[in-house]
Amino acid sequence: MPHTNSHDHIDAMLHETRVIAPSEEFQARARVTREEYERRYRQSLEQPDQFWSEVAGELHWTKPWEQVLDWQEPHAQWFVGGQTNVAYNALDRNVQRGLGDKRAIVWEGEDGEVRTYTYAELLREVKRAANVLLALGVQPGDRVTLYMPLIPEAAVAMLACARIGAVHSVVFGGFSVSALSDRINDAQSKVLITADAGYRRGQPVPLKKNADVAAQNTPTLEKMLVVRRAGVEVAWEPERDVWWHEAIEAASDEHEAAPLDSEHPLFILYTSGSTGKPKGVQHTTGGYMVGTYLTTQTVFDLRDDDVYWCTADVGWITGHSYSVYGPLLNGATVVMYEGAPNQPDWGRFWSLIEKHRVTILYTAPTAIRAFMQHGDEIPGRYDLSSLRLLGSVGEPINPEAWMWYWRVIGGERCPVVDTWWQTETGSIMLTTLPGAFSSKPGSAGVPMYGVEPALMTREGEELGADDGGLLVIKRPWPSMLRTIYGDDERYRKSYWGEIKGVYFAGDGARRDADGYYTIVGRVDDVLNVSGHRLGTMEIESALVAHPSVSEAAVVGKPDPIKGESVVAFVLTQDGYTVDPTELRAHVSREIGALARPDSIIVSDALPKTRSGKIMRRFLRQIAAGKPIEGDTSTLEDPSVLERLAATPPA
Ligand code: WTA
Repeated sequence: MPHTNSHDHIDAMLHETRVIAPSEEFQARARVTREEYERRYRQSLEQPDQFWSEVAGELHWTKPWEQVLDWQEPHAQWFVGGQTNVAYNALDRNVQRGLGDKRAIVWEGEDGEVRTYTYAELLREVKRAANVLLALGVQPGDRVTLYMPLIPEAAVAMLACARIGAVHSVVFGGFSVSALSDRINDAQSKVLITADAGYRRGQPVPLKKNADVAAQNTPTLEKMLVVRRAGVEVAWEPERDVWWHEAIEAASDEHEAAPLDSEHPLFILYTSGSTGKPKGVQHTTGGYMVGTYLTTQTVFDLRDDDVYWCTADVGWITGHSYSVYGPLLNGATVVMYEGAPNQPDWGRFWSLIEKHRVTILYTAPTAIRAFMQHGDEIPGRYDLSSLRLLGSVGEPINPEAWMWYWRVIGGERCPVVDTWWQTETGSIMLTTLPGAFSSKPGSAGVPMYGVEPALMTREGEELGADDGGLLVIKRPWPSMLRTIYGDDERYRKSYWGEIKGVYFAGDGARRDADGYYTIVGRVDDVLNVSGHRLGTMEIESALVAHPSVSEAAVVGKPDPIKGESVVAFVLTQDGYTVDPTELRAHVSREIGALARPDSIIVSDALPKTRSGKIMRRFLRQIAAGKPIEGDTSTLEDPSVLERLAATPPA
């Protein structure tokens, strides 16, 4: 078994034997039965062209594809020769189907403001925004960076890009100035869309101010479109800055969606890998559209009258695929909430569910554990009877949190679907379709249509059930990433080059006799903190960029709420002293508050092999307060371990 970052979870999951079946009532009305799943899954592997043609055929194409898949490993093209437009399919098509007056987005600000857009209204807004982007000189293929709060304009901006064939790159609003400018520069974006500020825990987050600083160092950036969200004072550069509301008001609401090649890039989304620099994961039009459309409809058992709420921010892949594209492609009513789960108190999610009669809730284990910590009594004050289905995403869910979610939030009535996938996979890969399968708390489940997973060794030897191994996918699927923006070599190496002929996910997993996969955590140097991916090397480079640090090693430590927390071992630069408070602030400035180390251990040495490699395995043990296990004889100086273990973290 490869090392993982979450041994405690593994232990808990290995002893988990509960099986929870959906109610008969749920099964009777479910979109997908077990027989249907078996039949379609088999078809998706045996006759993939036919399977994917049927799914893609439910959507609108201006030109039909000539070939379903062209696979020149590691490069896939799906629906080759076809032309379509994702925004057209999400909006115009739904208006034409008679959903014009249906609510598309029901948004609630942290301050309680509510705004609703019907499909017809959203379409009008997106057409205007598309015209605004065109007027700013944005051409098909140009990159547009978004640095926005979770407000409807974020979805409008994404869809407007998709409508004209511009490639959006959303940067989470919690990222720092330098993270923002790095991402603008990597993508060579022409336009930045931001807001004066967003709200987080009652405080305005000064997005425009950050953007102004970032833009001092971004030569390709020509224009900044600014949404007025908070009404705070902002600096203004008249040559460069444009108010969103003024431009939208002046723009025509007539616009024809651009017919785009199926492989036209749709977006770039940066995510952490095992080396220092975040990777710009690139998704394209046709395959991503088909993948998110199909999975949203089947995994969430979507019906016309559902009120669907995925709590993810648009800064993450979950926000792309399941707050915006997937549900809108299906004509669903999407709830969006701008703020923190504990604003004004830990009842906020439940009050939103009660008020908007939410039927489907999709959130992350870290949030569930935080709610759980505050007790059953808070959710008990709200009417959660509208809920009929719950989903979990982003990290392994421990069985205790699963059971709490099912019992307290779902009233033992709502199936809980765990969903394993990644920024790179674009859409859900492993789950238990809610009417077709029982759930096993802690286990992600079985493959979605078209997904052929396996467990392997590093050498590519396939392993059987109950052998833990590396999770791989044996064939391409429509919504998979196509490349790393500007670095195809890294794409080749990281995904299809690690283990010959298969996609390497970077996770360790097990499979049981029923074919359910349980994810045990990352096997590379990627941490999962509160469901957010962070590269240890990314944090290490931020740490050593501080004058007081000469060397740093970062590991994860199991955390009851966040899943993992960041522990940094640092060596002091001669002539300096390390100030942990200042160092944390420094990491926040370099990357963002989410990467701030929880513990900092200042030391005079790190456990290195004679060839100079840091043995992070031992650091993980020390961080977790565990006894040192394993062969320490390869270390240059094994006594370092004792000294580190005896150093109190700051
Ligand atoms: C982890 C988020 C266990 C996993 C959609 C993966 C999960 C990484 C689950 C991707 C789950 C995500 N169970 N682990 N249901 N979902 N992960 O790119 O380690 O932000 O590789 O995509 O999160 O994180 P990403």
